[in-house]
Amino acid sequence: MMHVPVMLLDVLRHLAPAADDVLLDGTFGGGGYAAAVLDAAPCTLWAIDRDPDAIARGAALAARHPGRLHLLHGRFGDMVSLLAAHGVGALDGIVLDLGVSSFQIDDPARGFSFRSDGPLDMRMAAAGPTAADLVRDLPEDELADTLYQFGEERLSRRIARAIVAARAEGPIATTAQLAGIIRSVVPPDRSGIDPATRSFQALRIRVNDELGEIERALAQAASLLAPGGRLVVVSFHSLEDRLVKRFMIGAAGREPSPSRHDPRSLMGRAASEFHLLTPRAERPDPAEARANPRARSARLRALARNPSPSDRDNAL
Ligand SMILES: C[S@@+](CC[C@H](N)C(=O)[O-])C[C@H]1O[C@@H](n2cnc3c(N)ncnc32)[C@H](O)[C@@H]1O
Repeated sequence: MMHVPVMLLDVLRHLAPAADDVLLDGTFGGGGYAAAVLDAAPCTLWAIDRDPDAIARGAALAARHPGRLHLLHGRFGDMVSLLAAHGVGALDGIVLDLGVSSFQIDDPARGFSFRSDGPLDMRMAAAGPTAADLVRDLPEDELADTLYQFGEERLSRRIARAIVAARAEGPIATTAQLAGIIRSVVPPDRSGIDPATRSFQALRIRVNDELGEIERALAQAASLLAPGGRLVVVSFHSLEDRLVKRFMIGAAGREPSPSRHDPRSLMGRAASEFHLLTPRAERPDPAEARANPRARSARLRALARNPSPSDRDNAL
């Protein structure tokens, strides 16, 4: 069981680790990005993961790079306070590789996958309500809204009705039970995608407040970047990518121009502090997408804080 890092060379190209840089990997996972960053330059790397298993696995990599890799258990939505506790207030680069790792999805005991049976858990950290708790407690309407909003599931109402009927008969405690209920009311389509895919994604996003975490992380990441600092984000579905795209375009001052009747258009646009490193999302090359199914839906976006005027002068 291992995690193959997605778009690793593209991440390194945009993150551009250099000697003496202080960097953050906000999603340490299997440490694939972290290992490559530590090998790329004599930099210092802070790494966060909300999953205690990921942090425990990272000890071996930290031992191979004495004093250079610092592992922090917590959420990337709290990166400012997690780093401030260690006296770090500015970074030269930040990378986020969103979603779950292969370690999490491939372990039936974590309850993320409809492909193998396990407890209906889906928590990345061992805290808070599980997917089984939501499926047991949410009113039918809220269940349907969750499946629709976070899974873009068109048949959300039909699935919610089936779940409510099934839970009246007995607890829905396992991934196989839930997948069976969904498959009994959603016909397979021609894409070959399992009918349970979208509902499982929706519950996972809600259990872990994944979109809230991303919003908090993006704002904090921008505030932590030193002049010239880079933020690189790899996302895996349209809900994540939409948040990243909007945030980066907004930070780079690329919102659509206000109407010419709007007084702001007379004042000209304020110079932005950031610029986009990726004018549009980058995708994995076809060879990577063929070799690693997890890479197929990946999109990478990157943003940089403008260099300070003195850095620019030095570069001339
Ligand atoms: C796709 S994996 C990262 C893989 C890593 N880049 C590698 O190369 O091994 C995502 C990791 O981010 C963690 N994660 C997801 N959301 C998080 C959050 N809000 N705060 C901290 N870690 C999070 C997950 O626990 C998981 O280990």
